[in-house]
Amino acid sequence: MPEFRKKINLIDVGPRDGFQNVRTFIETQTKLAIIDGIYKAGIRDMEVTSFVSPKAIPQMADAAEVARKVIDIYPDMRVIALVPNLRGAQNAWDAGIREAACVISASEAHNKANINRTIQESIKGLAEMIRTFPGLKVRLDVATAFGCPFAGKVPEEDVLYLIGEAAKAGVDDVTLCDTIGVANPKQVQSLVKKVKEEFPRFPLALHFHNTRGMGLANIFAAIEVGVEHYETSVGGLGGCPFAPGSEGNTATEDTVNMLGSMGYETGVNLEKLLEAVQYTKEHVEAPLTGKMLGVTASSCANVSGKA
Ligand code: COA
Ligand code: ZN
Repeated sequence: MPEFRKKINLIDVGPRDGFQNVRTFIETQTKLAIIDGIYKAGIRDMEVTSFVSPKAIPQMADAAEVARKVIDIYPDMRVIALVPNLRGAQNAWDAGIREAACVISASEAHNKANINRTIQESIKGLAEMIRTFPGLKVRLDVATAFGCPFAGKVPEEDVLYLIGEAAKAGVDDVTLCDTIGVANPKQVQSLVKKVKEEFPRFPLALHFHNTRGMGLANIFAAIEVGVEHYETSVGGLGGCPFAPGSEGNTATEDTVNMLGSMGYETGVNLEKLLEAVQYTKEHVEAPLTGKMLGVTASSCANVSGKA
């Protein structure tokens, strides 16, 4: 075993980013069972649902119930929910949520398609949300930080501008999201360096869709420039219904495997996690894109993220 085991923090966003892209309604009990499986594998940070309009995403109609139960059952879990607006923040707060990810796109066209607001309107909304709920920790999810399905290239300055406005509004942290999986490792390092330089107070998390198979390469590239927090998804579920070309996230199990085999500590037991992936495969009508489920149990044991 390597002497140096650096801790990398994984936030599983499958119950939010994954489920939102599944058309058939997943029963609340099934959602909770998958969350339980992820928890039992050792994940302690999870985005469990989103408080969005059920007209926009019918899958999230049970957000309050999921949030309440998860908060009740797992007192040691860091429970995060996505909120797009003040109404969502109110509903999340009422359900007991104390950490919210507020999504705003770096590209105007995707923000309009996703949230039906201009970026300026969203920034105003973010500031209002933080003023209204001072007890709510709010992180900014920068959607389309590396490319937009409508506008194509997204200039780094646009991402830095949005983070700057969110910082003024009082956000606690930032996640850069590659919503459609177009980022490449060099681009990731370039943007991360600039964000870290301009906003050193944010721990910074990254979120890579794996549409072009570059998720793990991008995670590795970001580790090399000092990022320690990654949003990944059980089974590789994921996608934005309002972003054509957005496909699965980088799978949590593949990330645990890569990091474990490199000597990083994720605190996640890969074999247990694969049980959650198997359950997800059997109960959710969506293709899973993670690779590790097909790998034999014996080889899993050698690369488990847990010492
Ligand atoms: N939760 C529940 N209902 C909400 C809501 C929320 N957070 N925000 C608005 N609504 C309701 C309103 O009450 C209204 O209901 P009504 O038609 O019964 O009166 C309806 O939704 C429309 O409200 P409006 O403020 O005009 O919103 P909109 O139509 O401009 O939609 C969003 C804006 C943000 C609510 C909607 O685009 C949304 O929920 N998007 C989700 C995007 C998402 O989750 N993307 C994937 C994650 S990146
Ligand atoms: Zn996503």
